[in-house]
Amino acid sequence: MNVLLIGNGGREHSIAWKLSQSKQLKKLFIAPGNPGTAKCGENVDIKAEDYDKLLSFAKDNKIGLAVIGPEDPLAAGIADRFEAAGIKAFGPSGAAAQLEADKVFAKQIMKANAIPTAESRTFDSFHDAKAYIASRDEAVVIKASGLAKGKGVFVCDEPSEGILAAEKIMCDKIFGAAGAKILVEDKLLGEEASILAFVDGRNIYVLETSQDHKAIGDGDTGPNTGGMGAYSPAPVVSDKVMDQITREILVPIVDGMNKNGTPYKGILYAGIMITQGGPRVLEFNVRFGDPETQPILARLKSDLLEAMLATCDGTLDKITLEWDDRPAVCVVMASGGYPDDYEKGKVITGIEEAEKIQDCLVFHAGTTTKDGTIVSSGGRVLGVTALGGTIAEAQARAYKGVEKIKFEKAYYRKDIANKAINKPKS
Ligand code: AMP
Ligand code: GLY
Repeated sequence: MNVLLIGNGGREHSIAWKLSQSKQLKKLFIAPGNPGTAKCGENVDIKAEDYDKLLSFAKDNKIGLAVIGPEDPLAAGIADRFEAAGIKAFGPSGAAAQLEADKVFAKQIMKANAIPTAESRTFDSFHDAKAYIASRDEAVVIKASGLAKGKGVFVCDEPSEGILAAEKIMCDKIFGAAGAKILVEDKLLGEEASILAFVDGRNIYVLETSQDHKAIGDGDTGPNTGGMGAYSPAPVVSDKVMDQITREILVPIVDGMNKNGTPYKGILYAGIMITQGGPRVLEFNVRFGDPETQPILARLKSDLLEAMLATCDGTLDKITLEWDDRPAVCVVMASGGYPDDYEKGKVITGIEEAEKIQDCLVFHAGTTTKDGTIVSSGGRVLGVTALGGTIAEAQARAYKGVEKIKFEKAYYRKDIANKAINKPKS
């Protein structure tokens, strides 16, 4: 089967790497891809937002399955368009993708289905939001309702900071129309985990657990980013907690989406805070996480294409996924200055040396080829991912890989997976 994968991040490189191992794959195209995906298939020079061109490329190249990596094309309804053209699409419909693209919708559906999440209120007027935040005496979380590339959430320890965040979103419109509405949420305390599951409208198949590192700085300090590193499995998710997440969150949301007339198909990503009172939903995403996918897929032994087709066909109850028992750690190397302004075009060396380390994979994210050399082209540049007998071994191997790679002003966190070390799975 010919497959078209849409996107160009580290997530897409890891998906392309795994898809390229499938026995069912005839040809893999990646649009637009990056220098890493070029080693797994053929990159096609069409942007992820160029829906008309993607569709005609798929028709012309007998694509049997379109795999949509990022959220924006999903929210715009690209899966519906592929399906209308008779092409299977891995990813939810535009209506179901509102679970990520519209946080107000997500809260409503959680409330309607008694899914545990932070208490929140929605505002479309800054005046009212300001009065409400000022009336509160504790930390608040301010969220733009629409898509903001993972940067639309402000965790504010003081109401005054919350008012400033609301002002930036609603008056300065830093996220444009995505900030027309905001949510003001209670701050939850606990440890986070990312739970990803294949969902075929009816069946739920949970992948191995993982944990992201959202903040730019060591010790979870500084502003949030797209994610600075991840590991799998996440020992904080005990079997008991996983059971609770399935029962209280995954099953009711899949049922709730059906009742709402927006059945869910694709990867469902639940960002969870494990509080003292149990797991609570921070957010739902409608696609694979980045960088969580890198360590998760590094551990997947089964055929990813088969699992994706089972998701599209409603036959997830017929498959079993096998996993490498060894943990995996992914350390993101970023451009200095990210998540604010940063310079691009820095020559990158040492990727091949890192790849020579046993069980070490280098996934490309913000890279491009210039005059035959790999240079940086984005905030998150590479995801160095390693397997190890223990999480500490995987961590040591990933950092060994990182140390081989050089580019000017490269920045990475030094503490990825520290939380998991010394915390055995109960
Ligand atoms: P989201 O995009 O909604 O997952 O939010 C991004 C990050 O903000 C999460 O990964 C958390 O670290 C943090 N966050 C979001 N909502 C809350 C909340 N209610 N309480 C505490 N932290 C939160
Ligand atoms: N790693 C967070 C996300 O993919 O949204």
